[in-house]
Amino acid sequence: MATLEDLKEKVRSLRTEFQQALAQAQDLGLLEQIRVRFTGRKSELTQLLRSLKDLPPESRREAGELLNTLKEEFLSALQQKRQELEAKAVQRLDLTLPARPLTWGTLHLLTLTLKEILEIFAGMGFTIEEGPNIEWDHYNFEALNIPKYHPARETQSTFFITDEMLLRTHTSPVQVRVMERKSPPLRFVAPGRVFRVDPFDASHAPAFFQMEGLYVDRHVTFAELKGTLEAFLRQFFGEETKVRFVPSHFPFTEPSAEVLILWRGAQGREQWLEVLGCGMVHPNVFRAVGYDPQEWKGFAFGFGIERLAMVKYGVPDIRWFTENDLRFLKGARR
Ligand code: PHE
Repeated sequence: MATLEDLKEKVRSLRTEFQQALAQAQDLGLLEQIRVRFTGRKSELTQLLRSLKDLPPESRREAGELLNTLKEEFLSALQQKRQELEAKAVQRLDLTLPARPLTWGTLHLLTLTLKEILEIFAGMGFTIEEGPNIEWDHYNFEALNIPKYHPARETQSTFFITDEMLLRTHTSPVQVRVMERKSPPLRFVAPGRVFRVDPFDASHAPAFFQMEGLYVDRHVTFAELKGTLEAFLRQFFGEETKVRFVPSHFPFTEPSAEVLILWRGAQGREQWLEVLGCGMVHPNVFRAVGYDPQEWKGFAFGFGIERLAMVKYGVPDIRWFTENDLRFLKGARR
């Protein structure tokens, strides 16, 4: 570059070239190429700035001003174009596209089972009651005809908080609490957590769910107990289910029975499985709540909710209910 005139000519043509190139830039990638080409280290503009020192001293100042103005022009035009392109990129987001599918949760198998069971009992006119997890000795044992010397009170099988307070070992105390509060006739089920000092293995858990049932009226018979429980078990496990009652013992019922169903397990082998405890309410329980045992009769039953779910849905290990393994929660392991 020899003269100031040459330089002015050069600036003019660079400006035109730049403006044409910029008008073509459709995206940020092309814009970056233009920036490098016109203002980068190897650009003509940068070369010209470097060669300013070769100009005759009297024209150096004016030439410097010319080139620097051009550079600023380029940079601010690039900046503005960048903002335009970015704004357009946002507009290109198609807001009408369908949203990504949500991953829905599912109800826990225990919740599903509980709902199933409650619906069956609701259909037979049972209402729902609840009692506290932390219970007085009186409700958990004493009023249920389990006196102080009874082996069921062994500390190994019970979480005591004080001598008189414990984590309930069954839902039967709800029988007593409801009878104390309400007068007969009564017909309710009472689901809830129970606690026992048990190992945590495939078939035991220190905390699990039970459901209690109580029916009290003037003329309640063992035949009604059988009919009610058979109807429940057939609705829950299937109409063809065979049900068997065998004599048993609970301090708060007399007579007492265990209920078994004939069930085809995973290996296809049929087996009698114990699923329920029940019996006619013991007169001492009625006495403890101030009901006259001559006037009132009743039946009671209780069962483990996990246990019923395990049998029906083929769950081999009670720990699966609390492990939160997604394969189990999504139903893939049943
Ligand atoms: N409470 C008893 C248990 O936990 C079950 C039961 C309830 C038995 C009601 C008879 C009547 O094993």
